[in-house]
Amino acid sequence: MSLYRNTIWFLNGIHQYTRTGYEAASKDFDPKDLDLSIVGRSFMITGANSGIVVLYYILYIENKDKAEDARAVIVNESGNTVSEVYIHIVDISETRKVWEFAEAFKKQYPSLNVLINNAGCMVHKREVNTEGLERNFATNTMGVYVLTQTLTPLLQKSQDPRVIIVSSGGMLVQKLRADDLQSEKGYFDGVMVYAQTKRQQVVLTQQWAKANPAVHFSVMHPGWVDTPAVSRSMPQFHQMMGERLRSIEQGADTVVWLALSRAAARTCSGQFFQDRKPVPAHLPLAWTHSSTAEIQRFMTQLEILARAVQSQPDAEFKDPLGPSTPQFV
Ligand SMILES: NC(=O)c1ccc[n+]([C@@H]2O[C@H](COP(=O)([O-])OP(=O)(O)OC[C@H]3O[C@@H](n4cnc5c(N)ncnc54)[C@H](OP(=O)(O)O)[C@@H]3O)[C@@H](O)[C@H]2O)c1
Repeated sequence: MSLYRNTIWFLNGIHQYTRTGYEAASKDFDPKDLDLSIVGRSFMITGANSGIVVLYYILYIENKDKAEDARAVIVNESGNTVSEVYIHIVDISETRKVWEFAEAFKKQYPSLNVLINNAGCMVHKREVNTEGLERNFATNTMGVYVLTQTLTPLLQKSQDPRVIIVSSGGMLVQKLRADDLQSEKGYFDGVMVYAQTKRQQVVLTQQWAKANPAVHFSVMHPGWVDTPAVSRSMPQFHQMMGERLRSIEQGADTVVWLALSRAAARTCSGQFFQDRKPVPAHLPLAWTHSSTAEIQRFMTQLEILARAVQSQPDAEFKDPLGPSTPQFV
């Protein structure tokens, strides 16, 4: 069953997620959608120093040298002055640091128009962060959760606020698994654990959209894009796809459209996008749908984990060897 499902998904991907898929879809794009001024609007982008999203204003980055390079590119391309582009160095896989950063940011800045959760990772071997959370989960789910939850009140105070989450079409083969968020059960398959966190991002987006009608939420798949992450995390796939992979600009297109265009703001909040269009968040076989109770359980667990990290005194996270098992699960 899963082989059949994965084959269907892959064939669909060859058709839609590649460079030719983008070129076909882009025939329906309206170029006027991005012909607009964004002067005065502020953007926070995570993971903006390499790969798909290199955009404007506030960056939220892990590596200082790469951040400076990214800032130079942004200043050059956008016409912004250096003082309008801020770099914040934060490891998004470290939950407590994300929370501290987001709280400080909320106090320091009067508004934020757009938050783009782009940073992501695929870790093949099970490892945990300082708080004992599995690394894919900590980065792709918990980092996004803490940053977005903490900054939502600031977004709500701002004009035309939007949140965009860069997920992956890989999530289509995953059903939300609220009973094993730390991937402790069974064989650890990093690709599937990554895909599970990307499903979690889609569920989160839908829940946030319901809970926060003043903010426009969307989640998207960039397609299969030729980025450092793909060549590093999936070298065989990268080699096999070669020229068929999308360029970085093609991968970023829908993120940019969702972040800027008026057309995007007119769409329903909480949807999953591909090439500027809302698309189903499930394959035609409905086995990946979750019940309300399962979703509620997932949301409750996230909140409990986040609160537990936030309420622990610093000293508990200073063990240089790190915990061998999650402390809060
Ligand atoms: N490329 C694809 O085909 C594809 C397909 C589907 C979805 N996506 C999604 O697209 C997003 C961007 O991926 P990409 O392909 O552009 O990968 P990338 O080239 O590796 O870029 C990812 C960015 O996230 C940053 N990042 C990773 N872990 C971080 C952490 N713990 N703290 C702070 N920043 C961190 C990276 O910073 P460093 O460079 O400093 O590590 C980098 O700037 C990800 O969410 C990915 O899941 C990509």
